[in-house]
Order: sequence, then C-alpha cells, then structure tokens
Amino acid sequence: MAQTLSETTPLEGARKRFASLQTGFAFFDSPGGSQVPDEVGEAVARAMREASANLGAVYETSHRVKAILEEAEAKAARFMGCEPREVIFGANMTTLNFALSRTVARGFSAGDEILVSSLDHDGGVAPWLELARDKDLVVKHIELREDTSFDYQDLEAKLSPRTRVVAFAWASNAIGTVVDAARVSRMAHSVGALAWVDAVHYAAHEPINVREIDADVLICSPYKFCGPHLGMAYGRAAVLETWRPYKARPAPMDPLGRRFATGTPPFELLAGVNATFEYLDSIGGFDVIRPYERALGQRFLDGIAPGGVSLYGLRGMEGRVPTFLINVDGVEASEVALRLAAQRMGVWAHDSWYSLGLYRRLGYEREAVRLGFIHYNTEEEVDRLVAALLRLRPSQ
Ligand SMILES: Cc1ncc(COP(=O)(O)O)c(C=O)c1O
Repeated sequence: MAQTLSETTPLEGARKRFASLQTGFAFFDSPGGSQVPDEVGEAVARAMREASANLGAVYETSHRVKAILEEAEAKAARFMGCEPREVIFGANMTTLNFALSRTVARGFSAGDEILVSSLDHDGGVAPWLELARDKDLVVKHIELREDTSFDYQDLEAKLSPRTRVVAFAWASNAIGTVVDAARVSRMAHSVGALAWVDAVHYAAHEPINVREIDADVLICSPYKFCGPHLGMAYGRAAVLETWRPYKARPAPMDPLGRRFATGTPPFELLAGVNATFEYLDSIGGFDVIRPYERALGQRFLDGIAPGGVSLYGLRGMEGRVPTFLINVDGVEASEVALRLAAQRMGVWAHDSWYSLGLYRRLGYEREAVRLGFIHYNTEEEVDRLVAALLRLRPSQ
C-alpha cells in the first residue's frame, strides 16, 4: 500500500497528542488560532495546581512561578533567536503593539512618519493610526505589486529622513504572502528607522531569527502555533534601553524586557507556552514542519487546478506560507463555510480578514473563504477539502 507523506515523517505521531484532532473534524482554521496538544493544557492545569503564587516570596510555590517565567523567557528567546532579556510577554499581539508603539513614540515629534504595509493585519496598523491622531504623526501605506507581493520600490520612494518606523507583517494572515523581512529592515535602517515586524502569521510556519533579519521589534502570538492565548515580543536590547517604560514605579527595571510587561504575568499560560516549545522541538521543529506544510500547500494548489475556484494572491508556493484565500465561483463564501462545516471541515468566511489595505486591493464582492494548513493537517484532509470544494461548483 502506498505510504502517505504524513506516515513517513516524524509528524506521524504528532496528531495523536491532540484530543481535538481525534473527532474526525478537519480544522483548516489555524490562521485564526491553532489546535493545542493535550500536554499544553495539562501544563497550564499543573501550574494552577502547583504554582499559584506571585514572584518574590520565600517559599516553594513562588520559586516555581519564578522558574516558569525564566524558562519561558529562555525558550521564547530561542524561538525568536534573541536573548532572554529581550523577550516581552503580553496578552496578545494587538495589546503588545498598542503598548510598545506608545512607548517608542514618547520620543517622536509632530510630523514624524510611520510606514505600514498594505499586507498588514490591522493589529499592526491601528496602533500607529491612533498614535498619529494623538501626536500628529503621519502614517503612510506601502503599496503592493500587481501579484500582491510587497512593493519594495514603493517603500524606497516613501522612506524619508522623517521615517521613524517601518512596520510590516512578515506573512499575510489573509493570503499567505511572505515579505523579505531582511530587505525591509535594511531599507528601514538606511534612514535610521526601526524595523517593526508582525510575525503572528509567519511564526506558525517558518523559523524566526531576529538577528538574521536584523529586526528591532518583532511580535507574535503563541496561540497561532499550538500554544495558549498569549502575546510574545522581542525588542532589540540597544533599542529597549533607550525607551522609558509605562510601568508601576516599584516594579523592577530588570531583566530588561520585563519592564515593558505591565502587572503580574499569566504564569499558568507561560507554563503552557513552555510545553508548546517542547512539543514543537519534539516533532523536529521547522526543519520538519516547513517542507511538510509546503507539500500540503502544493497538493491543495494542484487539487484546485481544474478550475471553478478563484484564488486571491500568489498562484504557487513560492513567496508564501500555506494560507489561501479563495471563492468558489458562483457560491457565496458564507454558504461554502456552512456546507463544509456540515461535512466536518472548519473554514471561515469573512470580508476583510482584518487586512483592510489588502481587502480594498483584492476587490472581491462581500466575503472570501480562508483555508490554512498547519503541520497537524494531513494529505487526506487536504484531499477531502479539495473534493468538497470542487463538488460545490454550481455546474457539478
Ligand atoms: C498577521 C496578524 N497580525 C496580528 C494579529 C493579531 O494578533 P492577536 O490576536 O494576538 O492580537 C493577527 C491575528 O490573527 C494576525 O494574523
């Protein structure tokens, strides 16, 4: 019998570690939030049972929460390629971005410019727009090329001596397009601006190394890569050291990153994220995840080749992660989502996918369907999805 890819990779055992994947329901909604292995939930529960305390006391449970936080900083640093003191935890990307953008802007003046990308999720745009209202800053949008990829020439044209930040999503949560982050950072630095990376969508699919791309700030959300609902950021030490934090005065200034994380950390969620990093390592990390997911993406693209399914964004796997925005020609997106749900497949229909610049550019009527593949999806699930989509075409 022919073996499938999923039976021949170390990912074979991964699915068994998720109770939620044992029901026969196929989840293609990971861009909105992934499934979570049982061991992550167990780590959260264990922390609540055995480590309910705060930092700074002289007894065992307090020592345990200290150890959880230090372990989370060390593991997050490894995940992002930075030092533990450059890690900042928060509620989610959007909250961290509102907080950190306000912090950096304490040093900005009226007329200073922020560049954002038209591929961005609004969590990467709205904080700068609100700041611009408060401080008379100017926000400019970097356009997209015809094929929906990032327009580096437009960035070049919009950079100026007043540019303070170039903020961009490393990968689009709507259409999966990936940006050359190292190139954007180099261009930002050429005018003395900060490279500010939204890695929320990228982080589930590709390895991150903030030194390689020379980012100044990078933010992601573990709930997109099999972790609990939490936000996680990196800030370059030399940059963070220049910022005055918004913090309660008695709260410690060290380690560096913690001064920007207000209040008591969610220790139980940090215990969960520690288990997430262990899970990802145990299945072979991105060396295994990346090629496997890309093969799933290619299988999907080959499957819809017969036509009747409109794909927005890049046509192949080059320059993208396996996240696809589609419409079945002649069928409302909401109807597609309903019909797939009835066949035990999870996708959503939505209008903008929170990517307002992109939504204006793509120009589809009303809504589109987003499909995201992640390492726990299987070839069999992709085939089921493709067959169902092709059957939905009105002529069938
Ligand atoms: C690319 C991107 N940026 C930002 C966000 C917002 O993240 P959070 O929900 O952690 O605030 C999302 C969420 O879907 C996203 O996909």
